[in-house]
Amino acid sequence: MVDVILGLQWGDEGKGKIVDFFAKDYDVVARFQGGPNAGHTLYVKEKKVVLHQIPSGIFHESKLNIIGSGVVLDPVTLKRECEAVAAMGVDFRKNLFISERTHLILPTHRALDKASELSKGHDKIGSTLKGIGPAYMDKTGRNGLRVGDILDKTFTTQYIKLRMKHQRLLDNFNFQEDISAWEEEFFEALDFVRELNIVNGEYFINQELAAGKRILAEGAQGSMLDVDFGTFPFVTSSSTISAGVCSGLGVAPQRIREVIGITKAYCTRVGSGPFPTELLDETGDKLRNAGNEFGSTTGRPRRCGWIDLVALRFAGMINGVTSLVMTKADILDGFPNLNVCTSYRVNGKEQDTIPFQMNRMQIEPVYKSFPGWMHPIHNIHNYQELPSQMKTYIQFLNEYLSVPVKYISNGPGREQIITV
Ligand code: GDP
Ligand code: IMO
Ligand code: MG
Repeated sequence: MVDVILGLQWGDEGKGKIVDFFAKDYDVVARFQGGPNAGHTLYVKEKKVVLHQIPSGIFHESKLNIIGSGVVLDPVTLKRECEAVAAMGVDFRKNLFISERTHLILPTHRALDKASELSKGHDKIGSTLKGIGPAYMDKTGRNGLRVGDILDKTFTTQYIKLRMKHQRLLDNFNFQEDISAWEEEFFEALDFVRELNIVNGEYFINQELAAGKRILAEGAQGSMLDVDFGTFPFVTSSSTISAGVCSGLGVAPQRIREVIGITKAYCTRVGSGPFPTELLDETGDKLRNAGNEFGSTTGRPRRCGWIDLVALRFAGMINGVTSLVMTKADILDGFPNLNVCTSYRVNGKEQDTIPFQMNRMQIEPVYKSFPGWMHPIHNIHNYQELPSQMKTYIQFLNEYLSVPVKYISNGPGREQIITV
């Protein structure tokens, strides 16, 4: 069977930590979409690690990790990351696998991402500039190059052909930067990737399933950044929801058992686009500082606000979420009052559904307020010991979302998690 862990908000919900925590119960951890736009943080023996391409199960010695077909791969990032985890004792040559269908991010994809964002001016998406959009465009446009292609002797010819096409697009954008250094490290990294375990991802996963193995699918980004169901066009370019597991790994829908949705106890977003519960005041600053809300991939300050149950219920619906993990609960320790958004007021009318074009309308969040617990919780290991105000907060989420919060994360460490 396959269980899924994915983010229900706009990313950075704490997926890395939670996947690392759950990985002990699985045989294989699989990334199914996204690329180095992801930044998944985990702590290994008190050392902070941020993973962009490698699945977050890599620090469990006996577990296999696979970069699935639905991912886009930057070989340069992967090489760097492999070297970093190897320095921490990980045998990636044994435990890491890459699907041959995984699309490659070329240096020109990064250049095109940058050129496209620059051309948009104020309307920019706020992309991580990792080349994600252009790489997925080449996939759906049927031009892209895949990891399996690097083993073929025609690869360089194919590369040059695509590069020329990209150059014409870059010329249209009047993009002048010299990317020869990027290309040099790209080809160096390809030599490295050729030596890794390149496999047929869908047979790999399905053979593991047939052998009764347990697979944990690790989402990147979040449901509100999904290309189909997120706050388009301010989204990423992949299927971040549970349906993306089937198309990204080549597993059938009936193989999926649990869909574990992760939400912060509040909400953040990095990059542009609608965010109804955003706080542009000192409470927002307090959340950012307390939660150290700065991007794991780009270092950008994250926009912060109250938890949005309208968006969470929507995410629960499209993903078929079976249980919730609430992360960063400890960050709310110092807040005397907590707000929870239960509906939106759009043009004076209240609704509890996600509107079509949130970016074109004035959305006013309608809140229900709760007293905070004003008590440090990071050392608590037992649900019974949690403050009663927190239990009330969680109970309300359970009822509103009709899905139980089964775990509460109360710190960044692997052991800082409470079973409800
Ligand atoms: P991801 O992209 O979903 O994996 O999340 P990120 O790693 O980008 O951002 C989550 C941040 O919160 C990281 O710095 C984590 O170390 C940290 N974190 C995760 N869970 C908790 C928690 O329960 N409490 C606190 N204080 N920090 C957490
Ligand atoms: P993890 O997996 C938060 C955001 C970017 C931008 C938009 C499009 O760490 O949760 P892209 O580079 O994909 O073209 O950017 O999506 N974004 C993320 N925000 N966490 C992420 O990943 C993100 N990956 C992309 O900021 O708004
Ligand atoms: Mg992140």
